[in-house]
Amino acid sequence: MKNILSLTTPSFLVNLDILENNIKKYQTLANENSVQLFPMLKTHKSSEITKLQIEAGAEGVLVGTLDEAEAVIKNSGVKKVMLAYPVIGDSNLDRVIKLNNSCKLFVAFDNEIPATELSKKLKTNKISYQIIINTGLNRFGVSPEEAVNLFKSLQKYENLVFKGISTHTGQVYGFSKDYIEEITKKEIDIMTLAKNLLIEVGANIEFVATGTTPTFEQAIKSEEITISRPGNYVFFDAIQVALGAAKEEDCALTVLATVVSHPSEDLFILDCGSKCLGLDQGAHGNSLTKGFGIIKNHPELTIIGLSEEVAKVKKDGDTKLQIGDIVQIIPNHSCSAANMTRYLIGHRNNTVERIIEVDIRGNSRKRILD
Ligand SMILES: Cc1ncc(COP(=O)(O)O)c(C=O)c1O
Repeated sequence: MKNILSLTTPSFLVNLDILENNIKKYQTLANENSVQLFPMLKTHKSSEITKLQIEAGAEGVLVGTLDEAEAVIKNSGVKKVMLAYPVIGDSNLDRVIKLNNSCKLFVAFDNEIPATELSKKLKTNKISYQIIINTGLNRFGVSPEEAVNLFKSLQKYENLVFKGISTHTGQVYGFSKDYIEEITKKEIDIMTLAKNLLIEVGANIEFVATGTTPTFEQAIKSEEITISRPGNYVFFDAIQVALGAAKEEDCALTVLATVVSHPSEDLFILDCGSKCLGLDQGAHGNSLTKGFGIIKNHPELTIIGLSEEVAKVKKDGDTKLQIGDIVQIIPNHSCSAANMTRYLIGHRNNTVERIIEVDIRGNSRKRILD
């Protein structure tokens, strides 16, 4: 079996022991707190990793795109799928209706227009929906009071069945670890208020769903939260490390690269650029990361710049690095990095074990020909 150091570079690696541990850890915590796990798939976009999450006990999945939903239903045997965002438009809604026939689907609304369009197209079939609540990210979602109005106005559509409320406190990425508790508390308070106001007007709430990787552990302790939908936890990354939500040894995804040049005393060039690592330095205003990824076992090195295919690395202090050396880089944002490749090379203790296809990326099928 091949050692990862003999692989061609750049290569995308996934440490299978770490991946499996991350999946198991989050599933166990969810089980211990009687919370159902619906992992968000946008992090890995892989049917095979979805299967691992379902086999570990996930109740269903959360998808960011219809492509993800269609592929995992077919390839991973997933039975319950939540759409993270509202969908509108003729051809997109046709796809939603098809999905609804092949799994237990939960669509998401934060205004009436997509609901009206979907209801018209559905005719007599029924579809389950959730209302998205804004708990501070200020992206999708309505306030608890607006949720009541939306619920009331959607009641005229007999084919739309209200099931619950959901939120995503992505703003946590714009702060440091010290704010995680405060943000989670605010999220739970707002979701509890929304739930209670909806119950007062006769809504039957089957679930209250939240989820980000950094807030997961605190949010699931609340009795109010019944579903959690984290995504990044499968791989973690340098942003989570900078935030204090993970350690370097929790990061499963790395990019393998070779030192191809040493143009000056303190500079090195690697053969992986923004088309491997992505240009993310943080999400939602986060600027805690240093450079464009962590070069493992080389604290003296910082990736100070990326061209498309190469990285510029600066040393600060002594280094043994030489032209021809191979390094492993933890990307700043693993969700973006995994989306840059068709496959990941799964290894254990540096020995290659198997290929994991990243098969559910957008446009991975030529849909226009359908
Ligand atoms: C609606 C929603 N839920 C959950 C997640 C997962 O968050 P994280 O990757 O921080 O775990 C995301 C991420 O973009 C999201 O948009």
